[in-house]
Amino acid sequence: MIHKEFSRFASQYGKYNIIQDKVAQKLIDECADSPKEILDLGCGSGAIASKIDWDYTKLKAVDFSEKMLDLHPKSEKIECIEGDFSEDKLFEELVKNHYDRVFSSSSLQWASNLDETLYQISQLHAPISLAIFTSNTFSTLLKTAGIDSPLRGVDELTYLLSQYFHAEIEVMTYELTFDSIQDIFTYIKKSGVSGGRNALSYKQMKALMREYPSKTLEFEVLFART
Ligand SMILES: C[S@@+](CC[C@H](N)C(=O)[O-])C[C@H]1O[C@@H](n2cnc3c(N)ncnc32)[C@H](O)[C@@H]1O
Repeated sequence: MIHKEFSRFASQYGKYNIIQDKVAQKLIDECADSPKEILDLGCGSGAIASKIDWDYTKLKAVDFSEKMLDLHPKSEKIECIEGDFSEDKLFEELVKNHYDRVFSSSSLQWASNLDETLYQISQLHAPISLAIFTSNTFSTLLKTAGIDSPLRGVDELTYLLSQYFHAEIEVMTYELTFDSIQDIFTYIKKSGVSGGRNALSYKQMKALMREYPSKTLEFEVLFART
């Protein structure tokens, strides 16, 4: 069953990570075991760190963007590590430690070889709380533009996960409504969900803005928990 949630984008707040924020909050809300030693892969500016509401001892926060790590909350308990979860080198270091839970929120869709990354995560022998954007993200927009999603679909993600984890899978759809089409495109650009890829030329973008049939964007996220 797919669960759906609706929100409205308020341009006056300029909040471009509304959906990632909800996703991270859901991972934290549904984590019942209050893990003490935590790993966060693709931590970004710290959505997971800032939402943890239990007492933990250590959080290793990994991102390959130095700029993102600069924005991440810092404390004695938090270790920020610049590393790429698509490279085995990172996991050779990570595997030396014990983790009570591995989080990854809104990031693993960008793994270049997700199969390998999931295998490496499984070798950490820790419970997982993962949220991965699927190919149904921006589905109406991509269909209107005649573009294939660069992301993996629910079936492929479920299969890849099933090779290494007995995870509980949940798929959530989020719909975000905007005041204008212009706001939609600004959101896509600034939200980080498109991974910085510009699949459209300026001309194609203009045409798409004329033809786009609604003022909403869809996001689909697969949650995997053990
Ligand atoms: C959409 S943001 C999500 C950030 C944060 N987890 C959150 O929930 O707000 C995706 C993050 O993944 C990071 N990322 C993407 N590919 C990565 C990789 N191969 N290794 C490490 N970090 C990566 C990006 O730098 C970015 O900070």
